[in-house]
Amino acid sequence: VSYSHQVANRHVVVLGGRPRAAATVAELLAEGARVTVVAESPDATLEDLIRRGLVEHRSSPDLDLIEGADLVIRPAEPDPTPPASSGVIGSVTLVGGGPGDPGLISLAGREAIEAADVIVTDRLAPPAALNWARDDAEVIDVAKIPRGRSTPQERINRLLTDAARSGRRAVRLKGGDSFVFGRGGEELVACAEAGVPTRVIPGVSSALAAPSAAGIPLTHRGLTQGFVIVSGHVAPDDPACTVNWDAVAVSGLTVVVLMGVRQLAAITARLVAAGMAEDTPAAIVADGTLASQRTVRATVADLAERAAAEGIGPPAVTVIGDVAGLDLNP
Ligand SMILES: C[S@@+](CC[C@H](N)C(=O)[O-])C[C@H]1O[C@@H](n2cnc3c(N)ncnc32)[C@H](O)[C@@H]1O
Repeated sequence: VSYSHQVANRHVVVLGGRPRAAATVAELLAEGARVTVVAESPDATLEDLIRRGLVEHRSSPDLDLIEGADLVIRPAEPDPTPPASSGVIGSVTLVGGGPGDPGLISLAGREAIEAADVIVTDRLAPPAALNWARDDAEVIDVAKIPRGRSTPQERINRLLTDAARSGRRAVRLKGGDSFVFGRGGEELVACAEAGVPTRVIPGVSSALAAPSAAGIPLTHRGLTQGFVIVSGHVAPDDPACTVNWDAVAVSGLTVVVLMGVRQLAAITARLVAAGMAEDTPAAIVADGTLASQRTVRATVADLAERAAAEGIGPPAVTVIGDVAGLDLNP
């Protein structure tokens, strides 16, 4: 579906909260529409877009809303075809969905989505890519929202292996690359244990794409000879943290932090305490490659404060190092 500029700055009401509605909403947002979703209990991916303030939400439609809208869409949520019981084993393909812009999925990834009988999708996987799914494909949203609703990993593994055992071609669609903080390894192990054939289609990780889209090169001749990608989901002084932040601070490498919004103040303070110069450039890129992409630039000493003041929330990638002072976007 392409609404090609007809919906830019228009108010569009989408009726429904299932995966195809999420796909439509993502497409509309990319085209610059203002979107209100009407659904009593939206699936997790839509709930996340609502929580991030990217779309408005109503539990039920009212006449004022409908009459005031420029466009009202009710996406069809087709009934999936029942699983084939041919006795032939199906397959599981892990598709790295890229950072958010569906244009950044590989051709192989798109082909796998088009061919899939069942698609198990995630919060940060580009919902608009579901528009490529067959009408009779089953789409299951197992989005995990930080500190919100989530589906246990064991249940996701089971969904995948059950689908393949019933002869279906399953796609596991995720944000970025499945093997970068994506639990793709665990899913592959579960499939191997169940004797299910698998394939991995690499994706463009947000760790690379968000800085790149913001005009920040992670390496730059004369500034740094490398980068390190670290999870910031726990604070450096948390017993669960296994990262040697003191070594990271003095490594001379660009530091890229994923899942680090909540602990940003603790992480940056630790880097400075461990010897990183306070005036080291730093930047945080939220919603990288989406229409809502935002970048806040600062130093390592004041990034956390500036990001909070600007209302930056997840998903966001933080870049710390001399390269973060560059802004090469034309
Ligand atoms: C559970 S990790 C998954 C990473 C994913 N597998 C990848 O390779 O991009 C989630 C984190 O990825 C980052 N992230 C994902 N999509 C993003 C985007 N479009 N813009 C900025 N950060 C993003 C954020 O740091 C977020 O907290």
